[in-house]
Amino acid sequence: MTLTETNPDAIAKAAKIIQDGGLVAFPTETVYGLGADATNARAVARIYTVKGRPKFNPLIVHVPTIAAAEIIAELSADAKTLAARFWPGALTLVARRQKTSPTCDLVSAGLGTIALRIPNAAVAIALLKATDRPIAAPSANRSGRVSPTRADHVTQDLGDTVDQILDGGICKLGIESTVLDVTTDQITILRPGAIDLAVIENTLGRRIPPAGDTATVRSPGQLASHYAPHAPIRLNAIAPEPGEAFLAFGVDHQNSAEFEDGFVNISVTGNLEEAAANLYAALRDLDRLNPQKIAVMPIPNHGLGEAINDRLRRAAAPRSK
Ligand code: TXA
Ligand code: MG
Repeated sequence: MTLTETNPDAIAKAAKIIQDGGLVAFPTETVYGLGADATNARAVARIYTVKGRPKFNPLIVHVPTIAAAEIIAELSADAKTLAARFWPGALTLVARRQKTSPTCDLVSAGLGTIALRIPNAAVAIALLKATDRPIAAPSANRSGRVSPTRADHVTQDLGDTVDQILDGGICKLGIESTVLDVTTDQITILRPGAIDLAVIENTLGRRIPPAGDTATVRSPGQLASHYAPHAPIRLNAIAPEPGEAFLAFGVDHQNSAEFEDGFVNISVTGNLEEAAANLYAALRDLDRLNPQKIAVMPIPNHGLGEAINDRLRRAAAPRSK
């Protein structure tokens, strides 16, 4: 890890690190973000490792322009109004993900929606432009600790687990962005934040329901059965039964020849970060084959394994309907 002032050389170096799949902590106007290439599942998986997050919560993807946002998500008329008024700024919009979005599944936790914002900080914008990729960035703290508003907070918390920390001084706002769900006409607030709801309501010309029941249901990770594939899931499987697709992990099952109904090994070397990066795509790929069930091998429950198992339990939970 190197702590650098934000001169053009430092930005260029940081951009290269992100393009190569590394992690860079950078200042925004709200809090410091822990950034990775949002199109690279392996890089995004490292964010979860470094933060020590027990769950794959979907992350905010940062973009430099509204045009860049529209490549990733469909913005409704209201969403465009809000973007025009508040971007760059501390408003995050959760919108429907474009089918052609270059972002990886992991960054939106396998959901059909994605959270986007244009940060209002020169360093962040310079980094986004130099990288020429959307940058996924949660706050740059270890899970459960308070968000960092100065570069040395990041150093204290994450030390040399990140490749570079850009020091842009103190964050102006110091609290995270306000998160709105704009996937439907019934806009709801998912997280109160730096932009006052009243100001947003003024712009829209109507009230926004408080984070009540609707928001809770739409907010991922709250539902027991979340991002479930169509096929039922059988956990802790040692081998598939006839009609079952097989999601393997580790060195014991390396190739598909012996499995007729669909097979993916999410990490032959037993690497949990690689497994996390491959998990959602593997479930989708197997599900597309319409198996009777997807049998899933046991995943060790340490490190990112905890988050993987949390997601798998949700995928396997009894479905409503
Ligand atoms: O100010 C901020 O927003 C900071 C700076 C670095 O930009 N970032 C930040 O990111 O706080 P993060 O990833 O920690 O916050 C993600 C928030 C969570 O509340 C999450 O539940 C919500 O956004 N979120 C992300 N994607 C979502 C989705 N597809 N649906 C619903 N909520 C989503
Ligand atoms: Mg946070």
